[in-house]
Amino acid sequence: MHSIRIVSGRAVFSALAVFFSLAAPVFAARPPADVDSARLAAAAREPSNWFTGGRDGNGTYHSPLSRINEKNVDSLGFAWEYDLGAPKRGQEATPIVVDGVMYTSGTWGFVYALDAATGKLLWKYDPEATQQAARNPCCDLVNRGVAVWKGRVYVASIDGRLHAIDAATGKRVWVADTVVDHALPYTSTGAPLIAGKVVVIGNGGSDIGKTGVRGYISAWDLETGRFAWRFYAVPAATGPQEHPDLEAAAKTWDPRKPEFHGGGSPWDGLAYDPALDLVYFGTGNAAPYDLTQIGPTQFDALYTASIVAVKGSTGQYAWHYQTVPHDEWDFDTVQKFVLAELPVEGKTRQVIMQASKNGFFYVLDRRTGELLGAKNYTYVNWASGIDMKTGRPVLTETANWHIAPKNVYPSWAGGHTWMPMSWSARTGLMYIPVIDASNVWVDIANNGGQVKYIDGFFTVGGIMPDTAYDAAGLARLYGALPPLADLSRERDGHLVRELIRAWDPVAQKVVWEHETSTGARGYDGGTMSTAGNLVFQGRGNGELWVYAADTGKVLKVIPTGSHIMAAPSTFEVGGEQLVAVQAGYGGAGITVGPTPASSAASRYQNVNRIIAFKLGGGTVPLPAPLVVPPFTEPPAQTTTPGQLTKGETLFVQECSRCHQFGPSITPDLRKMSPVSHAGFKDIVLRGALSGNGMGRFDDLLSEQDADAIHAYLIDEAWKGWNAQQQAAR
Ligand code: HEC
Repeated sequence: MHSIRIVSGRAVFSALAVFFSLAAPVFAARPPADVDSARLAAAAREPSNWFTGGRDGNGTYHSPLSRINEKNVDSLGFAWEYDLGAPKRGQEATPIVVDGVMYTSGTWGFVYALDAATGKLLWKYDPEATQQAARNPCCDLVNRGVAVWKGRVYVASIDGRLHAIDAATGKRVWVADTVVDHALPYTSTGAPLIAGKVVVIGNGGSDIGKTGVRGYISAWDLETGRFAWRFYAVPAATGPQEHPDLEAAAKTWDPRKPEFHGGGSPWDGLAYDPALDLVYFGTGNAAPYDLTQIGPTQFDALYTASIVAVKGSTGQYAWHYQTVPHDEWDFDTVQKFVLAELPVEGKTRQVIMQASKNGFFYVLDRRTGELLGAKNYTYVNWASGIDMKTGRPVLTETANWHIAPKNVYPSWAGGHTWMPMSWSARTGLMYIPVIDASNVWVDIANNGGQVKYIDGFFTVGGIMPDTAYDAAGLARLYGALPPLADLSRERDGHLVRELIRAWDPVAQKVVWEHETSTGARGYDGGTMSTAGNLVFQGRGNGELWVYAADTGKVLKVIPTGSHIMAAPSTFEVGGEQLVAVQAGYGGAGITVGPTPASSAASRYQNVNRIIAFKLGGGTVPLPAPLVVPPFTEPPAQTTTPGQLTKGETLFVQECSRCHQFGPSITPDLRKMSPVSHAGFKDIVLRGALSGNGMGRFDDLLSEQDADAIHAYLIDEAWKGWNAQQQAAR
């Protein structure tokens, strides 16, 4: 208690002022979303808030809260849930909580403001995204979060527009179009970054087959939404470059086949160091994946598969480090960064860290880009290590899939991908969601196939079948391929597994680990750690796991019935600590096959919801069970074999990256209702379901093409129906 001795009127006034300023968070309610650089810099002194996607300016996904801790976490249970509504797709954002209000994003780039204590909706923002843009993302209609700053909430919608929203009302303040050419499949799914006076956002799109998609980040004035600067990750194929550093980058590309110069999409992690005024971003693979299509020379293809630093105020180049020169394995370097201070050879260094898709954990000096550490945090066979002098990977024979098909670890999904990793300065450990899997790379051109961009399809020059390797199907498309049995499987029984690994970035070794999923790509979630000596991670099977941060001891497992890919956040409101996580299956899962049996979405409906937990909470309500509908008798088949082959080819190229045969995120088109059969061309060519994420395809397909796809689907439906009838007999 403060004892205030009243001496005069003036003293009362100043004493009250002191009282109010000390008690500010409780008494003098701040305006909504009142975050600025001072407050963010002092984030450690405000444990109750989760200010950014990664909680603080360093992207640690670590909370100083300890009310929930290793002694009492056993009583953690359900507090509230909020249903984000349809469409039922992947959830990848981590909720931000500032002064009792939760801000987060969902599919398309919808934004939600909730009372963090109760989950009650305060407002919801519809970005009114162009419906056709749902066709652009490689990996589902996802959004990885918002930024909150000085009374506003910023989000990038699926169509690449950047929105500033009034945090009090949910009304639009400004919207900027960040896409340079809407004829190209640019899309934004990442969270924006606040950097000084600007808000920065990147994009994806170069994995989908169209010439000329060059990744870039762009910056927009926070206040007005005016364009500030743009930094391209790859040079223009011809003509003058947009900024001088691209001239140097252009020298690292083979000048042949300029139509193949693309890629480098910065589709996820961004970070900012305000003291250095440096914005950090990672870039994706080159397009096409098979760079030998451009020419036989080895060239680096800057700035693809790189970590790049540019000035926040001007967008000027500061430094870059390329993790994978001449990347041909889909090793995007876009994974989220953590900024920290680390002791390196007796000196404290300001570092930037990344558990890169390629399997190596990088520690760089974030002022200069100097490489300080690069050890593999998971099994890799494409490189024997990183040469610390040149910074370049030392390739193994396995890396070269042009001479023969190769089984490469990690797979295209990465040893670690967008799922946030968490850094605890308390334990000195990074908690990494790891995918230990391989995929087979086949050189199509060497196997009688033809490499070309197919509009709507992946820019795969080399193909990357995984365990669901359908040699026969691919052979029909690309010509004869070696059967999978001929390929070496180095570690049978461990083809695909996921783990949580506690990684010591100073000693560069694993301190503890747990296998989290096996057998199928379950896409386990991002991690969060707390000062309560806890690490949280959701799993594909619907369980939220809690570990002791120092030892990895399992402390609590909470079933939710919802596939969790996102990382949780934690915050305090009304004197109580809560943990919240967004649940919903999707993401890259949309492309890889039917929903894995290990996913909660195989047993329960894939509801998109935020689930909040508290001490002494109850049992999490499970979504309704999933009932996989049986085949019904399909319409009569009237077609020619030629039409079926054409239909299959078109289906694989234009539809299969979203539609699977079997239960998945989108409808199984072998099981369409009579209504959908009747309206097939209205859906496929005229956009009858555009509002639900099924764009129209009349730019790519004719009436005859649609008929051929329909005939192929009816044929497949008959196969399914006949097999079902047979089994019932
Ligand atoms: C980018 C993802 C994506 C691609 C590519 C895609 N679809 Fe879809 N499709 C969807 C989604 C999402 C739905 C579900 C819409 C809804 O819930 O109403 C859907 C629904 C449908 C339906 C309605 C099914 C039913 O049971 O009612 C048909 C028919 C369809 N798609 C056909 C196609 C065809 C043919 C292609 C290829 C030319 C294709 N789609 C490509 C995402 C996609």
